[in-house]
Amino acid sequence: MTSASSSAPLLELTGYSIRFATPDGEVQAVSGLDLTLAEGETLAIVGESGSGKSQCFNGMFGLLARNGRTEGQARLAGADLLALSPKALDAVRGRDMAMVFQDPMTALNPALKIKRQLSETLEVHQGLSRREAEAKSLAMLKRVGIPEAERRMNQYPHELSGGMRQRVVIAMALLCRPKLIVADEPTTALDVTIQAQILELFRELGQEMRTALVLITHDLGVVAGVADRVAVMYAGRIVEEAGVDALFDAPAHPYAAALLASIPRIDRDGGSVEAIPGRPPNLIHPPSGCPFHPRCRFADERCVAERPPLEPVAREGHAIDAGRRVACWHPFAAARAGSAAAAPTPEAVLHG
Ligand SMILES: Nc1ncnc2c1ncn2[C@@H]1O[C@H](COP(=O)(O)OP(=O)(O)O)[C@@H](O)[C@H]1O
Ligand SMILES: [Mg+2]
Repeated sequence: MTSASSSAPLLELTGYSIRFATPDGEVQAVSGLDLTLAEGETLAIVGESGSGKSQCFNGMFGLLARNGRTEGQARLAGADLLALSPKALDAVRGRDMAMVFQDPMTALNPALKIKRQLSETLEVHQGLSRREAEAKSLAMLKRVGIPEAERRMNQYPHELSGGMRQRVVIAMALLCRPKLIVADEPTTALDVTIQAQILELFRELGQEMRTALVLITHDLGVVAGVADRVAVMYAGRIVEEAGVDALFDAPAHPYAAALLASIPRIDRDGGSVEAIPGRPPNLIHPPSGCPFHPRCRFADERCVAERPPLEPVAREGHAIDAGRRVACWHPFAAARAGSAAAAPTPEAVLHG
């Protein structure tokens, strides 16, 4: 892997698309994404189920189903992952980038003790002796907050709770000190208390280890306090990208505003939520113009006819925010219409 200069982004997606061939036609799962991630940064990818979040990263990890193909570029530290041979990509996975899934058992071998799961990675990828590898594994288990780590080393995955198993998987991902970890709904299967603990672990690790993190979630509520930046996906496209505080303060895209209004909150009577009306679009025949227009209360003729580009916008009375891009012909319409007054502050968000 070529080393990039410090100013170059760690991850850079350019014109990145994913299509699946099906008997009914081509599914346009991800369409022309341009996205960058800096070293050590935590980016949340948020959107409803089916918006293309998982396939986007499966594509660069070489994990697409056989009917899928990628287009464009996905550069990690300068090297285009899409151009690598399966063998070269395999070497990059585990060394430079790792993935954490919703179900920890997809990454764990039920027949191996925890210490073997962990130290084998180090023996294979870093050529450490078994003793060195086990010592490092134990230290990492302690680091991710596993109590009685010595005893856990000799247990099998089924002897651990779901939350502990996910900690083991996170330890496994961290062991080779990857530059990038992609966590796909890592807390969705866990109960609320454990979910909050795992998110806190990601927050600490992000601050401590310079590992860049992509946190994929359908729940904007888990993003506050963990991510630096948020990219909101709809129908395979980024519709808004912004710093977390800016997004929670005033979402520019009506879909981002709707997602925000659908978060259960402790500061709203009875924790009521507003469901987003309408259904996610058909990705074989995506809507014309702005893909959100059929569900958008601010849509007009232009939204039906012309797709808005993802670009910086100025909010009335504010300087232009260089870190924010939005694809909408009526940015901040929701904020003006008053739903910003009802939008939660990050502190008010109920995790889970
Ligand atoms: N192998 C496949 N063949 C056809 N369509 C697929 C395949 N895998 C995923 N898709 C479609 O791609 C779209 C994006 O999926 P995905 O990225 O998994 O969504 P999510 O945002 O929930 O993670 C969805 O519409 C899904 O149905
Ligand atoms: Mg998914």
